[in-house]
Amino acid sequence: MRYCNIGEAADSLVKGNVVAFPTETVYGLGADADNDQAISKVYSIKNRPLNHPVIVHLLDGDDLLYWAENVPREAYLLIENFWPGPLTILLKKSKNVISLVSGGQDTIGLRCPSHIIAQNLLKEFVRLKPAQRGGLIAPSANKFGKVSPTSSKHVFDEFSNEISSNLMIVDGGKSMIGIESTIVDLSNVVKGSHPTLLRPGFIKASQIEEALGRKVFSPTEYSPVVSGSLRAHYSTNTPLEIIKEDIDFDDLFYSNKKIALLSCDPSPIALPSCFIWYEMSHDNDLYASKLYSTLREIDLSNFDKIFVYDLPNGSAWNAIRDRIYRAAAAFI
Ligand code: TXA
Ligand code: MG
Repeated sequence: MRYCNIGEAADSLVKGNVVAFPTETVYGLGADADNDQAISKVYSIKNRPLNHPVIVHLLDGDDLLYWAENVPREAYLLIENFWPGPLTILLKKSKNVISLVSGGQDTIGLRCPSHIIAQNLLKEFVRLKPAQRGGLIAPSANKFGKVSPTSSKHVFDEFSNEISSNLMIVDGGKSMIGIESTIVDLSNVVKGSHPTLLRPGFIKASQIEEALGRKVFSPTEYSPVVSGSLRAHYSTNTPLEIIKEDIDFDDLFYSNKKIALLSCDPSPIALPSCFIWYEMSHDNDLYASKLYSTLREIDLSNFDKIFVYDLPNGSAWNAIRDRIYRAAAAFI
């Protein structure tokens, strides 16, 4: 794996290679959305099951109707309000979409990233494509089920053993939002279904409801399957547990374990050196922006256990609650 600039990255993508690139949410593992073989490489590098669809990243203003059909008015409202930005919209896929992109489902996830490097990469990629149009699939640049990367170093750490694939990466500093995009399913709205929130994120359900002027619902058994909605996902290597009450530090001390504690608050007492306290934030967006980098730092530091203090109440914390509860579920 090696670093490259936007020109090299676009050229390599057009040739069917895989390039990791930054977005405002997390880093993605990019490939040409119209190239079956390139997309297969992404699935195999990630160890991702083939029935888990990938999101297509577009330039704002790209022809939606190339990718989707039966596009409801609600989609245009969300695009107007939130693109470019951390919102993925699920629509009925058009016949142009190759089935590896949609994981065999009849929907397509579309997102227009606001990160300047992602946008410039898309512009250069489209310019080099013979048809002068196109999109990049980009799942988060991590092994399937693991914590998403928010810096190019995280991507390097994840794929340093990857030798076979000419894998390259464009550096873009830290992903400021720090958790994956909000996903809203509008694929059956023209047939009378409600808009559905499949993955909470930086853009809150209340903001989407305000833009749409109608309610957004939780997924039902008929909603499209999202891998991020598996009970266990986003998992650390170090066992992680959510704690709802105060801990007995004396008990833990005698257990001889090295323990990381994540909390919104500063440490209440001076702690012995086997405990490291990570003060996150009382602001949910700041907490999110630090969450994955903190978990990755802990994973590299030989801790025996991560305790995450339960989060404040309120829907503003839904996206973070979603991620840490699924991370904890991997250890139950
Ligand atoms: O912020 C993000 O969305 C990042 C950056 C790189 O853009 N990407 C990302 O991709 O999080 P990924 O593949 O790690 O997560 C996308 C989720 C998966 O759970 C996938 O199953 C779901 O979206 N998804 C994508 N397309 C879908 C579709 N057509 N139908 C149902 N679920 C879909
Ligand atoms: Mg992911």
